[in-house]
Amino acid sequence: MTVRSASATQSAILQGMTLQFGRPMVAIPGPSVVPDRVLNAMHQPMSNIYGGALADVTDSLLTDLPRLARTEGEVFIAISNGHGAWEMAISNTLKRGDKVLVLESGHFAVDWGRIAAAFGVEVETIAGSLTDPVSPAAVATRLEQDPGHTIGAILCVQVDTGTSVRNDIEAIRNAIDSANHPALFMVDCIASLGCIPFHMDDWGVDVMVSATQKGLMVPPGLGLVWMNDRAMAAYASGDLKTGYWDIGPRAEENAPHYYRYAGTPPVGHIHGLREALDMIDEEGLENTWHRHEVLARSVHAAVDAWSTPDGLSLNMTDPVARAATVTTILTGSVDTDAVQQMCEARSGLTIGVPVGAFEGRAFRIGHMGHLNPPMILGTLGTIEATLAALGAPLGDSGVAAAAQVVAAELANPGAS
Ligand SMILES: Cc1ncc(COP(=O)(O)O)c(C=O)c1O
Repeated sequence: MTVRSASATQSAILQGMTLQFGRPMVAIPGPSVVPDRVLNAMHQPMSNIYGGALADVTDSLLTDLPRLARTEGEVFIAISNGHGAWEMAISNTLKRGDKVLVLESGHFAVDWGRIAAAFGVEVETIAGSLTDPVSPAAVATRLEQDPGHTIGAILCVQVDTGTSVRNDIEAIRNAIDSANHPALFMVDCIASLGCIPFHMDDWGVDVMVSATQKGLMVPPGLGLVWMNDRAMAAYASGDLKTGYWDIGPRAEENAPHYYRYAGTPPVGHIHGLREALDMIDEEGLENTWHRHEVLARSVHAAVDAWSTPDGLSLNMTDPVARAATVTTILTGSVDTDAVQQMCEARSGLTIGVPVGAFEGRAFRIGHMGHLNPPMILGTLGTIEATLAALGAPLGDSGVAAAAQVVAAELANPGAS
């Protein structure tokens, strides 16, 4: 066995007494905190998988998940992570030789394109930046140059978890319409569903993919794909279907309930997802969206307060384009690894590592799902204390700034 030696900073951080005793806090952009109610709901003996109560729960999920996405379309449940949902979406709607247009805005749309490429689909990318949302005008311009409609589908994320950008899905749909282009519009809401507004039918989204481990507050394990009538029509003419991902048998009317899962149902996850959707219903989806907006603004206020020219700053400078579920924080001269390691080893707080081009120069705070002021203010306070302990350059108190955002909401609920 090879034992790697830790750097001097690492060993200093890992040595000595810690304050981490207590419930650990995971503030990464998924998997997010799973509520005890969901954990308890999942903790059940195995039941009859062929019918009975479990089949009723499945039926209720197939009714409620479209409601969550604000669509009259259908939903399919895969036993997978988000990559599986990507694959299910591609393999059920496209044909060999099709072209997809990937709208880059960070990491994840491009990765989705790679899955399409593995199926022999031609992939073209509208290059994006790490600090801007997708430009609807650029989408319209490209589609206007495709009078023969060779582009079969457009792939985009609502929130990119790497950059923490929020794309304007409605504006992109308007751009597609302005070019009068029939391509299927496919949107990844893996880091946004159940957290920020999404109106699948009103925004003309044909295929939407998500997964359970972020805003839906269930452990990783279920990939979800929603399809409208146009996408179902594309299924009929598609030729990339594979045994497990094929939605055909899952969609069969009057088929046994376990067909919906292409085999043995994921019993625990089914009960967990049911409980999570009940919790969202109890809060009220609009209230859930609002809570996420307020808590996200408190994070943004904290980072703005911490900011110094040589220290931390928000990756997304335009407030309109900031995700309400995750924040990418550039670290300037601050040692990113030391912040992460001290937060985790000394205080029991896990913050998100950077992805792709942000390696070594950013960390991320996930703020989605089961989250309230004590959790977010505690997270920000712990990061602030860690930055101070490391001697990082700090402007003002981020916690004080975040508390002001929360205070404004407490004083005037729903007004901000
Ligand atoms: C926006 C987005 N899409 C897709 C994925 C991939 O999901 P998974 O890791 O569950 O396969 C992620 C994962 O973080 C994501 O944030």
